[in-house]
Amino acid sequence: MSADQTPSDSTPVALRINGQSVVLRSPRDSALLYALRDELSLTGTHYGCGANQCGACHVLVDGKAVASCDTPLWAVAGKSVVTIEGLGSAEQPHPLQQAFLEEQAGQCGYCLSGILISAAALLDHNPDPDEAQIRTALQGNLCRCGAHNRMLRAVRLAAQRMREGGPHAEPQGGAA
Ligand code: FES
Ligand code: FES
Repeated sequence: MSADQTPSDSTPVALRINGQSVVLRSPRDSALLYALRDELSLTGTHYGCGANQCGACHVLVDGKAVASCDTPLWAVAGKSVVTIEGLGSAEQPHPLQQAFLEEQAGQCGYCLSGILISAAALLDHNPDPDEAQIRTALQGNLCRCGAHNRMLRAVRLAAQRMREGGPHAEPQGGAA
């Protein structure tokens, strides 16, 4: 840890969130999850376990899915964070969001933002994953509703569309 990352330091943390430059003023040792929800009102990222065990709070940090409940602000200074709000929107959904809707791959939906983020990280580096690779990528995401098989189908559908460059194949800029 470098000197400018001292957790007790109250210096604001500058980073990019969903493509925008942001300065967070929450304590540097507080979890990214709380700053997203409480300081920025980005409430699509959910609290599940608070202990890096369920995946409900996953966000992308420099393209990698991480548990925002277990990530202090100082650790994301200068980095690029993408939340579910940056992945897509109702008007312009990410291919994964569109495929999850079409496959009805959610029931209560509580886990879905974290699952979509983990799936997006997977497709970013592996555009044609097989079922085993999708299962491995999502193994850190728990879902109590039992929609797993539909989620697998949805990820494969989205991957196919992204490879083919068809309708809904372009994610929003914030996901880069
Ligand atoms: S709330 Fe972060 S992993 Fe469960
Ligand atoms: S859809 Fe309900 S927890 Fe996953």
